[in-house]
Amino acid sequence: MSIQKVGVIGAGTMGNGIAQVFASSGLDVVLCDTAQPILDKALAKIVGSVRKLAEKGGKDPAAAEADLRAKIRTTTDLESMRDRDLVVEAVVERLDVKKSIFERLDAMCAPHAILASNTSSISITVIGAATKRPDRVIGMHFMNPVPLMKLVEIIRGHLTSDATTSAILDMSKALGKTPVPANDYPGFVANRILMPMINEAAFALMEGVATAQDIDEIMKLGCNHPMGPLALADFIGLDVCVAILDVLHEGLGDDKYRACPLLRRMVNAGLLGRKTGRGFHSYA
Ligand code: CAA
Ligand code: NAD
Repeated sequence: MSIQKVGVIGAGTMGNGIAQVFASSGLDVVLCDTAQPILDKALAKIVGSVRKLAEKGGKDPAAAEADLRAKIRTTTDLESMRDRDLVVEAVVERLDVKKSIFERLDAMCAPHAILASNTSSISITVIGAATKRPDRVIGMHFMNPVPLMKLVEIIRGHLTSDATTSAILDMSKALGKTPVPANDYPGFVANRILMPMINEAAFALMEGVATAQDIDEIMKLGCNHPMGPLALADFIGLDVCVAILDVLHEGLGDDKYRACPLLRRMVNAGLLGRKTGRGFHSYA
């Protein structure tokens, strides 16, 4: 099956990057969110990224921006997904919201369409069960920042077909990414390993082991991480981190995944990291 028309639902941290890589690969993209100002902000971010990458590659930024704008349409109407060959959902990390979107997509999209989720941790089998096409539901877990990160973690649900998996492996490679398979267990591979580190950094801060700056500096200089764990949590979004930890805790049943109370309190205070201007660090 040839995938030409793609939909992306959710234009937040991840959705805008996913829409960008699809459009930059020449696909026809519809990007959907709940309000036009969110979509306008996402499009501005995409344009900034595309221009920057063009400049770095010695290409004309204005031409790159024009190519990009010709490929992306934004909408607040989920019905615009009706004619898509592939839809990637990248909304908040909440099972109830994802299930209701997949139910609606299943009812409106053509039988051949593949429905993918960019979920960080939620079961693809459970999301697939909200549809009548669980064979065509798959996890396509891009990493943040999407335009720069090579990995796409590919998660098969219990009923995902070989044909769907191979179409998504091929599509990920066509985007210039490296797909790597993981089985459908809570948090898959990337977040099962990453989130306990971020959570432990939050506990270290809460217990006064070191300041946020020093925890990050120690992990950057001492372990050669490109960002310290608290800066990375700000980059991901503290709400996303807590949602993933809750899925790990509930799904694996081990208290070692319990979200640090400081992390949860910061989310309750609206300090979500870069997207709200303040998390463990402040952003102008
Ligand atoms: N588009 C285009 N260019 C971008 C960009 C984007 N979206 N984001 C950053 N850049 C550019 C910067 O502008 C900068 O360009 P210059 O060299 O011209 O200055 C360049 O990339 C490097 O950026 P910075 O100098 O700001 O910082 P850096 O060298 O630390 O690189 C980074 C940035 C690539 C994000 C790097 O810090 C990094 O790899 N961090 C870790 C990212 C990571 O771990 N991601 C996974 C998160 S977990 C996840 O995604 C899964 C989940 O479910 C939660
Ligand atoms: P975000 O909070 O930045 O953005 C979520 C977007 O979804 C918001 O713009 C919101 O308005 C929109 N939205 C919510 N309900 C919607 C609906 N019913 N219809 C359309 N849009 C809706 O979140 P994010 O960080 O981009 O995360 C999105 C998904 O990607 C989550 O499942 C998350 O776990 C996953 N993920 C996040 C990261 C990361 O680093 N942040 C990395 C990989 C995967």
